Formats: sequence, C-alpha cells, structure tokens
Amino acid sequence: VIDIEATLRQADEHYPGLREKLKHILASDGPGLLRKKWTLVNHKGGVGKSHATMALAWALAYMYGLHVLVVDMDPQANTTRRAGYGATDTRGVGTLTEALAMNVEGCAEGIVLPCTWEELKEERDGMGSIDILPSRLDLEKRSEEGGVADAAALIRRAVQQQKPSILADIDVILKKVVGKLERPRQRLAKILGGTFLDAYDIVLMDCPPSLGLLTQMAYAASEGVLLCTNATFDSVDGAVRAQQMLHQTRTDLGNPTLDVLGVLLNDLQIVNSRDRAFGASVNAQESIKELQAHLGGVLWEPFMERRSSIAFTNDYGVSPITSMRDSDARYVASTLSLWGARLLEVSIG
Ligand SMILES: Nc1ncnc2c1ncn2[C@@H]1O[C@H](COP(=O)(O)OP(=O)(O)O)[C@@H](O)[C@H]1O
Ligand SMILES: [Mg+2]
Repeated sequence: VIDIEATLRQADEHYPGLREKLKHILASDGPGLLRKKWTLVNHKGGVGKSHATMALAWALAYMYGLHVLVVDMDPQANTTRRAGYGATDTRGVGTLTEALAMNVEGCAEGIVLPCTWEELKEERDGMGSIDILPSRLDLEKRSEEGGVADAAALIRRAVQQQKPSILADIDVILKKVVGKLERPRQRLAKILGGTFLDAYDIVLMDCPPSLGLLTQMAYAASEGVLLCTNATFDSVDGAVRAQQMLHQTRTDLGNPTLDVLGVLLNDLQIVNSRDRAFGASVNAQESIKELQAHLGGVLWEPFMERRSSIAFTNDYGVSPITSMRDSDARYVASTLSLWGARLLEVSIG
C-alpha cells in the first residue's frame, strides 16, 4: 500500500545526502556506522517504548534495507511477542534469561530468532532484516541476582572497614551466595561482544519500565539512548528521570560518554481541528514545553500521533503497516522514515 521509494524521497528533503552517505558506509569495509547500539527507555510503562523499538526496526529494515537486531530486555516480552514469539514459543528455547546466565562473550548469537513478519519475506532489492534476542518472564531472575551482587558488595565493603581480619572468611561465603556474578551490569555488553554484532547495522534495545539492573545493563552496552514518551506529565517525568539516572550512573557503568541523543514523542492525541493547527492538544502542549525545557535539543520530529491501527498491529504482532488503512499506513510510514533518517544521521555522526 505504500510506495517506499516515494516515502524515502520525502525524507531525503529533510536529510539531503543521508542515503548516499549510508550506502557508502555500508559498502565499505570500514568501521560501519559510528554509533549502532541504541537503548530505548522511560521509567514509565505504556508510553510506546516497545512500539517505537519495533516501528524503528521496521523502518530501518524495510525502508532503509538495514540488518537490525532487537534486544528485548523486558521480562514482559512484549517485543518478543510482537516479533512473532509468544510465551509458549519461548518456553523451550534459549532466551536472554539463559544467555545472560551463561555470561560468555558473544553467546547471544545462540539465541537469535528471526522476526516473523510477512512483509520482511518480500523479495525486493534493498530489503533488510530484523532479528530478535527474545525475552521471557524469568529474565526477572537476572535482575534479582544483580541485587544480590550489590548487597554482597556492600557487606564486603563494611567488613573491610570494620573487621578486615575476617575478610578472607567472608569472601568465601559471599562467593558461594553470589557465584561468579562479577560486574553484573556488564553482562549484556559481554554476551553481545566478540564478532557477533558484525552481522548487524543497528541494534535497538527495548527496556522494561524500570531503571533497575536490566535497564542499566542496556545502558552499559549502548552507544546512544532514546527516550520514548507521551505528552503527559507522568511520562515526561519518567523520561527526565531516565536521563538523570543515566547521568548519575554512566561512569560507574563504564560508559561515561553515553547520553540521550533523541526523544521520541508518541501517541499524541489530536482531538479537534484546533489541536491539529497546533500539532497537539492544549494540555499536551504543556508537556511538550516541559520536554523542550529539559530535552529540547534532542526532541525528534515529527511526533507520532495516536492511531487505533497502531495499537491493532501491536496487539496482533504484525508489522506496523500490515492491516492498516491506506491513510494510516502512509502516515506511519512517513513518520517512521523520518525517525529512521534521524537515527541514521545521529548514528553516522
Ligand atoms: N501512536 C500510537 N497510537 C495508538 N496506540 C499506540 C501508539 N503507540 C503505542 N500504542 C499502544 O499503547 C500501548 C503501550 O505501548 P507499548 O509500546 O507497549 O509501551 P511500553 O513499551 O512503553 O510499555 C500498546 O497497546 C500500543 O499498541
Ligand atoms: Mg514495552
């Protein structure tokens, strides 16, 4: 229903020369895209993180012809399901739960699943691909272990200060409790290591609505952060908190230059024609002002409006365009072509 080339030509007007530059980079044997590992985050749930992750993956693969890896760091496994793998499908297979437990460099390669969307099977020049590192509910365990490792480190520090003579004995016990869980926040970076990611142009990591260990693992493994938010008070608050937490922890995470490089504003409700003139409803405009005050420089345009067909595609685990009315498909494709272009422009640097 959509003319990919025509849509991309519209994006070219906003990002002149980008596709040429991209083609050149992809054809060379050089270091590839400068920045390829992205984390999508908000402390709040239900703001469209998973939607934005899969929608961007679609745009980059289907429109820009890239090989995209999606990492589902949320134990809710919404992204995994939207890529075609429900809870019963992931019961017997390796997921991030197992790969992170193994904690071996590059071992994530062993759990890759292809996204099942029909559209991606189209035989067309310039067609990319989407793979996923799937998640399952018990990914929560990896988060809990990190908490135990933190507690053990605190105990060790206290003992060192107050009773260093028993440190050797305590260490044996702590090791039994924590096992080989050193540097728990580096585990995702480690399993993505080695040459595994050479096969991909872009990696998108979807996070749980939490700033806990799973999100911190993604921060430690990323080169850029995208905040996803709605134009509501609480979700802007959650986005700002995710940014603050990043700034507070990035040095400890061994990633001191990591920063927020984009804000995706999603699910904007256009209620009446006056809203349309302003691009948002009156109270949404307050939230947008708040966003601009905190994160103005990196607020990406265009904003994504609320469309019931977007929720439909997510519910049914189909690509963003499948089953949409033509007008919605064109709207979403055009918005995503620009999000994709912005991401690529920032990735190239
Ligand atoms: N632009 C949009 N229009 C309509 N529904 C949307 C839009 N973006 C997201 N949704 C729906 O909102 C819900 C929450 O989105 P989701 O991506 O799961 O958020 P998160 O990952 O932040 O929890 C989902 O049902 C999704 O389909
Ligand atoms: Mg989600």
